[in-house]
Formats: sequence, structure tokens, C-alpha cells
Amino acid sequence: MIDPYLYPESDVLRNLADIRNEETLREMEADYTLSRLSDVVVADSVRKFDFESLCELHYSIFQDVYDWAGKPRIINIEKAEVILGELSIEYSDCFDIARDASKVLDDMNHTDWNRQAFESIVQKFADCLARLWKVHPFREGNTRTVVTFCCLFIEAQGIYIESELFKDNAIYMRRALVAANAVFHDLGDLRKMEYLYQIVEDALERGARMKENIRDQIKKAGQEATEQKIRKVVLWNRRTHIEHTAEEIKGYLQGC
Ligand SMILES: Nc1ncnc2c1ncn2[C@@H]1O[C@H](COP(=O)(O)OP(=O)(O)OP(=O)(O)O)[C@@H](O)[C@H]1O
Ligand SMILES: [Mg+2]
Repeated sequence: MIDPYLYPESDVLRNLADIRNEETLREMEADYTLSRLSDVVVADSVRKFDFESLCELHYSIFQDVYDWAGKPRIINIEKAEVILGELSIEYSDCFDIARDASKVLDDMNHTDWNRQAFESIVQKFADCLARLWKVHPFREGNTRTVVTFCCLFIEAQGIYIESELFKDNAIYMRRALVAANAVFHDLGDLRKMEYLYQIVEDALERGARMKENIRDQIKKAGQEATEQKIRKVVLWNRRTHIEHTAEEIKGYLQGC
């Protein structure tokens, strides 16, 4: 089948810089997307978590690289996975993308995350992340988009997560997502969830510790540690790459 996303007789994705070499494109894509991603995680601009916002996030990250950024794929895809002996995950059919993604997003939006014990937050969050990833809504860039989107979503619930862990362990993370989605129409259910649960648990634990530290610093600064203030300080620390002291936080919150 002809893949309209590729240059003719090549494996290189058509791109805005018209780069025809796979390695050069990978480097250019990594540069632009890392910069866009670092802006996105401190922008605090995603308010709704529906399929449209997922597409908008893909656009935000990939707008410099592909003219189809933000648009769901129009072909079916397969990606050979080393850990599956070159088999591919059975990603959603391109005609079912919006429906399949919305099902998971509805489930996420209708869950009362703050009423759950830590262990069930870990499992439920990892399950939703895996299900949304299995849709693979875009021709490329699904892992970066879906992982970032789910992290923004859970933080919007006041549950913090150290998303750097996913970025710094990208190969492990991709394999964990593959293992969590190894269900095949002919081979049956070969899923292994434990790898994904493990890294999600670590990231949520670190996020919870960071939130506690910031709560303490705000109290030390003589202020009431509301969710809104905690969020402000989290984003400030991330923007500046500094863990601010109680004294600094006091000045910052007074100036807000
Ligand atoms: N959460 C993340 N944050 C930042 N960079 C990531 C993240 N996950 C993966 N990457 C980086 O993105 C690049 C491409 O990785 P990969 O192909 O596995 O994911 P993707 O392109 O986002 O998704 P897919 O290929 O499944 O559509 C790699 O260089 C990887 O290090
Ligand atoms: Mg990729």
C-alpha cells in the first residue's frame, strides 16, 4: 500500500523542512519537539481533555515538523516491535480513532481520581494511558503526545507526576506500553502490565513528594497551601528549574 505520508520510494516522512534523510529528520524533529514540549508542560493552557485537545496538543508539539500536525492519521499503521519479535501492536483502525480515543477520555473524565487510594490511581492511570496509546491517533509522535497529555490530565486533578521519568527512560517506557497492549486477534492476550505500573508508580510517588514539599514551603511562608497556590509554585519551579525556598515563595505569591 502507498503511504501518502512518505516521500515516493522512501521511508522518510514528508516534512516542512523537506529533509530527505531519515537521520537528519530524526535530529531536527527531536530538537523542535523537545523545545515545544518544554513550553507545553509549563504553559498551563490545556483546560479540556477531549479528543480535540489531544489533537491540539499534537499540533503544539509537531507544528514545526509536519503539515499534518494535529490531524489524525488517514491510513492504518503497523510498527514492528523488537520485544514482540517484529510483530506490531494492533492499533485502532483509522476510521475508529476518534471513537476509540473518546471512549478512554470519557472514562478518564468521569473518574473521581481524588477519591481513590494511591495504588488504584497508579493502576487506573496506567490502564488509561495504555488504552489511549493503543489508539495511536497520529501517523507519528503518538508516545510523546499521549504520555504528555495524560500527565497534563492527571496534574489538572491536583495529582502531580514526574513526567521527566518517562522522557528520560523513553525506551523502557515505549516497551512498557507495548507490553501493556500485547493483545492480538490470533495470538490472544499476551499483556504484561507490571512494567508500566512500575514506572507510573515511581513517577506518581515522586510527584506526590514534590507536592508535599511545596505544600510545606508555602505553609512555612505563612500562607494557606491551597491547590491553586501549589499549582502556581509547581509551574514556577518548573519554568525556572529551581526549587524555591519558603522566603522566595512568599514574595512570589504576594506579587501574584
Ligand atoms: N515522554 C517523552 N517526552 C519526551 N520525549 C520523548 C518521550 N517519549 C519518547 N520521546 C522521544 O521521542 C523520540 C521518538 O520516540 P518514539 O518513536 O518511541 O515515540 P513517538 O514518535 O512519540 O511515538 P510513535 O512512534 O509510537 O508514534 C525518541 O527520541 C524518544 O526519546
Ligand atoms: Mg516515533
